[in-house]
Amino acid sequence: MPVLLPPALELSLDLLRCPTCRTRRLRPDRGALRCPAGHSFDIARHGYAGLLTGTRATSGDDAAMVQARDRFLSTGGYAPIRRAVADLAADSAPERGTVVDVGCGTGYYLSAVLDQLPGARGLGLDTSVRALRAAARAHERAAAATWDVFRPFPLADEAADVVLDVFAPRNPAEFHRVLRPAGRLIVVRPTGRHLAELRSRVPAMVTVDPAKEQRLHRALDPCFEAVVTEQVQYPIDLAEPDALDLVGMTPSARHVSHADLNEDGPLPERVTVSVLVTAYQPR
Ligand SMILES: C[S@@+](CC[C@H](N)C(=O)[O-])C[C@H]1O[C@@H](n2cnc3c(N)ncnc32)[C@H](O)[C@@H]1O
Ligand SMILES: [Zn+2]
Repeated sequence: MPVLLPPALELSLDLLRCPTCRTRRLRPDRGALRCPAGHSFDIARHGYAGLLTGTRATSGDDAAMVQARDRFLSTGGYAPIRRAVADLAADSAPERGTVVDVGCGTGYYLSAVLDQLPGARGLGLDTSVRALRAAARAHERAAAATWDVFRPFPLADEAADVVLDVFAPRNPAEFHRVLRPAGRLIVVRPTGRHLAELRSRVPAMVTVDPAKEQRLHRALDPCFEAVVTEQVQYPIDLAEPDALDLVGMTPSARHVSHADLNEDGPLPERVTVSVLVTAYQPR
C-alpha cells in the first residue's frame, strides 16, 4: 500500500526542489515525491522523504549513536541549550516562519523551536535514517528528509527564516542561499570546557580544538555576520548510564567499551556543559 503523504511533509512541499534537476518542484504521487521531469524519491513508511539517493553520504549517526543521543537528551541534560536555541529562534522568525534544521538528529531542537512559534513549519535534514525516524515524529509541524549537508540543498532560494545547526556539519554557502535576507542562522558548538571532565577520562572523545572557533568564523565570515552570541554553561550530575550515553553519541568514541571507561577508576559524577549559541545574519 502506498505511504500517505505525512501532514508535516505536505506543509513543507513548496520549500523542496528536485535534488536531481534542482529547480523543479516536487509533487506527491503514490507514496513518492516526483518532479515534472520524472525524478522520483520515496517517502519512507517512517515518515521522512528519501531525497538523498545514489552515492552514500560520508558521515551520519548509526542506530546505537541515535539511541544513546535520544536517551541522553531525554534526561534533560541539554535542556538549557534547547531553551536558548528556541528563544533565539523565536526572536528571529516571524510567527508563521519556516525553520530548517540541518543535521537535525532526532529533532530535539527543532521541536522546541516549533513549540515557541505556533504558526511555523519545520524541516529537518540529516544523513542518518535512524535519526530521521525520530525526527519525523518529533513534532506535528516538522517534516524530515535525508540529505547530506555537503551537497547543494534540495530547497528553494530564500525559503527559510531560520536555519539551525546544532553540533552538526555546516555548509555556509548553502545556508546563505536558502535563508531569506532578514533570516537568521543559529549555530551551536562546544567550547573547550564542554564535558572537559569526561573528555580527560576518554581520550577517544576528541578534545575541542581551540582553533575551531577561528575556523568557524573564517568559514562563515564571507556569508554571515554574528548578531548575538550567548554562552550557555552549567554543571550537570552524571549517573554512569548518562556518561556512557554521552560517550556513545560521540562519533570518535562510540566504540569505547564500558570496561575501557572504568579502567582508571570511577567516571566523573559532575561535568560542565559549555556551548556557544550564535545568531548570524546574512551579508
Ligand atoms: C552531533 S549530532 C547532532 C544532532 C542534533 N542536531 C542534536 O544536537 O541533537 C550530528 C548530526 O549530524 C548528522 N550528520 C553527520 N554528517 C552529516 C552530513 N554530511 N549531512 C547531514 N547530516 C549529517 C548526524 O547524523 C547527526 O544526526
Ligand atoms: Zn527532477
